[in-house]
Amino acid sequence: MPRITFIEFNGTEHVVEAKTGQSVMQAAMDNLVPGIVAECGGFANCATCHAYVDEKWLPRFPPPESIEQTMLDCAYHLQSNSRLTCQLKVTPELDGLVVRLPVSQTE
Ligand code: FES
Repeated sequence: MPRITFIEFNGTEHVVEAKTGQSVMQAAMDNLVPGIVAECGGFANCATCHAYVDEKWLPRFPPPESIEQTMLDCAYHLQSNSRLTCQLKVTPELDGLVVRLPVSQTE
């Protein structure tokens, strides 16, 4: 199972085991990672799953589709490595993925 490290804005790390085929958001939800709320249930319609993908891992994902980009444009604290984690599919090659959560998603 691919392991993903979520790092809250305050530096708290959560290492979770994800299932291949699920979204990075769902892996966070399954493991109760604080800061990933996913209000819309994964339909790229809320941006409460916004995270910064570690630069090393960013090229492993396809670029955002228009629906994701449109919602990202509405997100707070946007960065060049911002993604909606509900749109990122877990694959075995993502073992070790690191994502960081923005300040707007602190509890
Ligand atoms: Fe709503 Fe990702 S869960 S945009």
